[in-house]
Amino acid sequence: MKTSDDSFTCVPSERSRNIPPFIVMDVLERAHELEKEGRNIIHLEIGEPDFPTPHCICQAAVEAIEKGHTHYTHSLGLIELRDAICDHYFIKYRVRITPDRIIITSGTSPALFMVFSTLLEPGEEIIISDPHYPCYPNFARFIKAGPVFVDVCEEEGFQYRPEEISKRIGSRTRAILINSPSNPTGNLLSEDRMAEIAELGPYIISDEIYHGLVYGEREHTILEYTDRAFVLNGFSKAYAMTGWRLGYIIAPQGFIRPLQKIQQNFFISAGSVPQWAGVVALKQAGPDVENMRIIYDERRQYMIKRLRKLGFWLKVEPAGAFYILVNAKHLSCNSYDLAFEILEKAGVGVSPGVEFGQNAEGYLRFSYANSLDNIKAGLDRIEHFLKDYTPE
Ligand SMILES: Cc1ncc(COP(=O)(O)O)c(C=O)c1O
Repeated sequence: MKTSDDSFTCVPSERSRNIPPFIVMDVLERAHELEKEGRNIIHLEIGEPDFPTPHCICQAAVEAIEKGHTHYTHSLGLIELRDAICDHYFIKYRVRITPDRIIITSGTSPALFMVFSTLLEPGEEIIISDPHYPCYPNFARFIKAGPVFVDVCEEEGFQYRPEEISKRIGSRTRAILINSPSNPTGNLLSEDRMAEIAELGPYIISDEIYHGLVYGEREHTILEYTDRAFVLNGFSKAYAMTGWRLGYIIAPQGFIRPLQKIQQNFFISAGSVPQWAGVVALKQAGPDVENMRIIYDERRQYMIKRLRKLGFWLKVEPAGAFYILVNAKHLSCNSYDLAFEILEKAGVGVSPGVEFGQNAEGYLRFSYANSLDNIKAGLDRIEHFLKDYTPE
């Protein structure tokens, strides 16, 4: 008889072994260890709103539970929510979409997985900016597609140059990914560049999760420029609903049935209670989002001024999301070690730039999804830390 040792060796699949961890989680987990030891840590690494979910949204969830809306929904999602998304895109961007082009998901992350799986064959390529949200290339590689990186530089506010994208388009290119406002840079893609990118040929995947969190300029949806696009959006950031796991895809009609089949097999449907809450988020929580946006903006302005005073280089002021990516190369070109040193010595969590791509090595990402008092205290600590710091 075979023993369990020789018949079932404990070897996880290659695909699961190869997927990289989220480095920011390493920072966070070390921060939690230090907190357990009694240290006080200020978290400027986390990409999660510090606000509670607006009351009207929570109330809608309670009502949904009381009414017994606690079962599977249609795999495309509640028609009430899909209708509300159509209204939202029309009111905000004057773009007309129909509910049969929308599929509700359990967050933007599954939406990314579903769109990548539907669009990309193994061996095909997707163009991604460097720096970028770390999961993009990880998702691509997971389904055996190839991420192709296009460098974007701080002098231009980390915006894509359409001509640089063009140079990287080849016979295997299937899609171009855009994310505006962006994680980690907080910058917006200008209207003319977005329009040009829309014309390049490949499908555009537009991650619009930070829409609603912009300061000054207006954000644009890719659907203002082309219908050959997939919009990914969600409620985590603008509505402070990270734990509710609610997002959606707006796709060209011909892709809906394949996306729906992936949804049915992998997820069945998004949660029914979050979906009912999402209807109220879109219809009633606008003033709450605006209040949060005003507070984020106040923190953003403070943080920009203070980081520059501390000697960090920031060419273009970020105008969206809740991140600031600053150049810290005068301190160290190893952002991973620098972030951990700041955590250990100053008690402040920050994200190392290298997490977001090679082009962001030597940078640090600061999040202002924390109170102004905590931001001030965190930057005071970094100021103190820098007084004794010897650059490498
Ligand atoms: C750019 C970007 N896209 C997608 C996500 C995933 O968001 P969700 O909570 O909707 O899965 C995040 C989360 O930080 C993000 O920064």
